[in-house]
Amino acid sequence: MTDVLLFSGDAGPNPIDNGRSVGRSHSRIDGPLKVTGRARYASDYRAVAPGAAIGFILEAGIGRGRIARIDTTVAERAPGVVLVLTHRNAPVQGNRKDGAFPELKDDRILDHGQPVAFVVAETFEQARDAASLIRITYDEEPGRFDPEHGRAAARLSIGTVLPPVRQDTAIGNLEAAMASAAVTIDRTYTTPPITHAMMEPYAALARWDDRTGLTLWTSHQLFEWAYRDLPRTLLLPPEKIRIVAAFVGGGFGGKLYFQAEAILSALAARMLRRPVRTAMTRPQMMNMTRHSPQTIQRLQLGADRQGHLTAIGHDVWHTNPDWGGEQEMAANQTRLLYAGANRRTTHRHIVVDWPKGSAIRAPGERTGMMALEVAMDELAEATGIDPVELRIRNDVAHDPEAGPSLPFASRSLIRCLREGATRFGWSQRSDRPAQIHDGRWMVGMGMASAFRRNQVKPSGARVTMSPAGHVLVESGATDIGTGTYTIMAQTAAEMLGVPIANVTVRLGDSLLPEGAGGGGSWGANSATSGLYVACQAMRRRLARNAGFDPASVDFKDGRLVDGARSVGLPDAIGQQPLITTGRIEFAKKQRPEASFGSHFCEVGVDRYTGEIRMRRWLSVVDIGRVLNPLTARSQMIGGVTFGIGAALMEEAVMDHRHGLFINHDLAGYHVPVHADVGEFDIVFLDALEPSSSPMKAKGVGELGNCGSSAAVANAVFNACGVRVRNYPITPDKLI
Ligand code: MOS
Repeated sequence: MTDVLLFSGDAGPNPIDNGRSVGRSHSRIDGPLKVTGRARYASDYRAVAPGAAIGFILEAGIGRGRIARIDTTVAERAPGVVLVLTHRNAPVQGNRKDGAFPELKDDRILDHGQPVAFVVAETFEQARDAASLIRITYDEEPGRFDPEHGRAAARLSIGTVLPPVRQDTAIGNLEAAMASAAVTIDRTYTTPPITHAMMEPYAALARWDDRTGLTLWTSHQLFEWAYRDLPRTLLLPPEKIRIVAAFVGGGFGGKLYFQAEAILSALAARMLRRPVRTAMTRPQMMNMTRHSPQTIQRLQLGADRQGHLTAIGHDVWHTNPDWGGEQEMAANQTRLLYAGANRRTTHRHIVVDWPKGSAIRAPGERTGMMALEVAMDELAEATGIDPVELRIRNDVAHDPEAGPSLPFASRSLIRCLREGATRFGWSQRSDRPAQIHDGRWMVGMGMASAFRRNQVKPSGARVTMSPAGHVLVESGATDIGTGTYTIMAQTAAEMLGVPIANVTVRLGDSLLPEGAGGGGSWGANSATSGLYVACQAMRRRLARNAGFDPASVDFKDGRLVDGARSVGLPDAIGQQPLITTGRIEFAKKQRPEASFGSHFCEVGVDRYTGEIRMRRWLSVVDIGRVLNPLTARSQMIGGVTFGIGAALMEEAVMDHRHGLFINHDLAGYHVPVHADVGEFDIVFLDALEPSSSPMKAKGVGELGNCGSSAAVANAVFNACGVRVRNYPITPDKLI
């Protein structure tokens, strides 16, 4: 029996408020497993699948066309080869679903990363060698590889994965307001395609059993979506599929979906009645998987002389093929962040024959804030109003499209801005650019708002208490490197009054109660809320067993305590383990919720080479209850680091002649390293969000990535007076 709590947005006082474990810094409980190599990632499993064969994927050599001939005879006779799959012999798969895509379906080549053959052999080297012996002749067709060609014909965005969203919004009359505004900004910004660049490549081990079906050990963020798409693609009932992703070496949105290596391994394992393990190489990932779409964003801001916005328009064009991928909703935050009576947001889809684009590291806000928050800086410059003050003047308490009848659950933007400005020493900034020098460095400060909608998802957990008082927590939630294991242990420790050391956590197995996966910054808040429900059920059981009133009993130091009376946990548990299962579901939110923050940074620009160095960083954020300040801080640092990367270096370079991304590895595709980011100061506002969940928390993972790129861009402008509107801001664009 599962206890289900339908949360309607009004968490009252509850045991989490005691803060004996939740809210305290605790290093990752899975840390020792990771640093000693005992944490198993997808490609590490050996004992569960002895004798596994190894797969290697061959990708298309063209960007658009048809396979005219494919000759696998030499490859099939190569040493160690046990199977060569092509579109001619691949098993039939279900309809095209974006979360789990049919592979080797036919002879059509839709994009350059598309798999055209799958070789399975005794060893990786044999499989790779045999793949090189496959001879293919293509009928190549011209592809739409250059987005400029498609922009005029851009069409309404149609989401293929995410639920339907409003493509366009319009309030008042943007054009008229722009025409009559005292000060206007009308600028176009571009963001390049970027790639997830997670540490652990896509990998899967598939084992087929005629009785139980498929087990897939893989690297995955979100089982809920997995069960929507994978059964339909593999033509298997959901109960014949088990997914295990106990450890995930980073996802950033890429592992919300299954990629070719999982689908092909599953198909081959079933055909061969033998386990098949496949890992993508780093170069394969660039075109065979996903990326963040390229965007072109026009920002129109109109304001009075005091900087009050009267007009705010955000038109977004993003790239994607016409058969898959996700729209990039880059104007999302523009609908919610600032005041302004006349407003418009639009999203248009430029059709390109590229690999699918989809969610990366805060889809929507990540990209949109890169434009909006630079436009705000340009408006500050044009009006002569301090950038912090300009944002404060345009804060709104409600959804500005809906009006005052739809207030935010809470709005802490102004607090974050003021606190940030004070702590950072913002008053030391020069209003005029290119004024501060430190040797060869031109030094500047920049800032931006941080904003990310808060999302929650249903989530379940099972709690088992052993007679000795040891707690086992089990959930199908995933830990994508963010610290889910640890905050789950803290939540159980808090609720049941035991030390964290007495809690064991199992995650990432679809046989466990369905849990909220790691995506959209909802994982921590949702997964711990599901566990909260299971723990509440356990508390009631224990209180009843020991003759306490569940309403007044406290669980503390391994005991049930009420006034002067107390009973040790083992006495309340009894001789047999106690098991409870809980699940949280969320009623539709009545009011908009978001995590807020401010980013401040100082950069140096080398006056001779244009090299940009980060000198200082401060983020002040409101994420509701901070479940674990240590891991939350790490989340912020990770998000900001990617924000710095997107501002200064990250770009997947599309070859417009052939339709492929040409920088295939971490030498050609730059992500920041320690020397690129410098010191971080992260400050959490002391805040609770009772409308969000019983945990009163909000999302943190992606917040660091929202607005941070713009803060860097604004600091670069302040340092050297050059406004770069096409990311990334590389030295060649400054000199
Ligand atoms: Mo995220 S880009 O929703 O994993």
